[in-house]
Amino acid sequence: MQYRCGKVNRMKNTRNVTDGVVWIGANDRRISLFENMFPLDRGVSYNSYLILDEKTAVMDTADTAVTGQFLENVQGTLDGRPLDYLVVNHMEPDHCANIETLLRLYPEAKVVGNAKTFQMIGQFYDMDLMGRTVTVKEGDVLDLGSHKLQFVFAPMVHWPEVMMAYDQTEKILFSADAFGSFGALDTLFNDEQDGAFADLAEMRRYFSNIVGKYGPQVQAVLKKAAGLDIQLICPLHGQVWRSGFGELLEKHDCWSRYEAEEKAVVIFYGSMYGHTAEAAELLASMLAEAGVAGVKVYDVSRTHVSYLISEIFRCSNLVLAAPTYNNGLYGPMLNLLEDMKALNLQNRKVSIIENGTWAPQAGKIMAEMISSLKGMELVGEKVTVKSALKGEQREALLRLCGEIAESLK
Ligand code: FEO
Repeated sequence: MQYRCGKVNRMKNTRNVTDGVVWIGANDRRISLFENMFPLDRGVSYNSYLILDEKTAVMDTADTAVTGQFLENVQGTLDGRPLDYLVVNHMEPDHCANIETLLRLYPEAKVVGNAKTFQMIGQFYDMDLMGRTVTVKEGDVLDLGSHKLQFVFAPMVHWPEVMMAYDQTEKILFSADAFGSFGALDTLFNDEQDGAFADLAEMRRYFSNIVGKYGPQVQAVLKKAAGLDIQLICPLHGQVWRSGFGELLEKHDCWSRYEAEEKAVVIFYGSMYGHTAEAAELLASMLAEAGVAGVKVYDVSRTHVSYLISEIFRCSNLVLAAPTYNNGLYGPMLNLLEDMKALNLQNRKVSIIENGTWAPQAGKIMAEMISSLKGMELVGEKVTVKSALKGEQREALLRLCGEIAESLK
């Protein structure tokens, strides 16, 4: 498809965020893996916004998967007006992919970014931006007429160049990746669905896997946000927030401090022939019998690690059950533990069940890996299964159940 400057007659699909701010993003419901890694059950949205004032500004572009809809939205909304600015808050390709296309369509537009933004633009593109750049620093203000955009830097939420833009007039925070979520948008605003969160589990999975590693940096951003009068939050993925900020901030504060949302138990097991699974399932039954509500059980071989990580961000108590493999730890469980380390997970209570027919090693390895993480506490005696469950292991699991139940109090 050829795109051209000026008025167009193609179909835009946009929503007004306010009279002067228009959502010009798009949904991708065909994508199966975000970053070619994370399963998406309900797609994802790539949000972009257009400010119509004396000057016009596009706030970030969108992924190549939605280039057609994005450009129709830009052109349809500008309706023949020139584009003055492209503000680049984040240079990850799901948002920066259409920079060159947009700048070719609007040759008078200037690019607004920080020093790191322009370094990355140079790495991704071969474009001559001579005379077309506006470099901003923390606190600088871009004057669009009635809208004044104040730049608030948010390094490592989730890349080093990330910044947010605060519209001082309409009190809108263009928050980049912060406060985002997986899931395509059924409706744009959070209050157009039941409850504040269209899908809390998907917001948690997005946060924990995408920015979970950067808790201290998220804490820094939350402190900056606390100093701003915010009426609307416009992230790059997921719904636009115009109510329920208390719960939204509370969740992000909890996640970024690596505190559990709930006193709850999640059991992760790996099992080749079902014996370790049997131990995990038996412990789940014992916990339920002991009055522990809401126990969840996951097979680490069958569940993508992003869901497991998300559950760890939710729950206070983890049980890891895995066999020995190659004189080491069963691969899918090793993968989970390495991901926990990569994401800087902290402050959980962990219990261990191992299996090994001739030289059990899994428990020792899991305990060492857990102990290398900050604020982790091992609960109960490690339970060792040698091949299949026997009476003595039932007794050991009962003792472990009691210790876990006690630790929840
Ligand atoms: Fe959706 Fe870090 O970008």
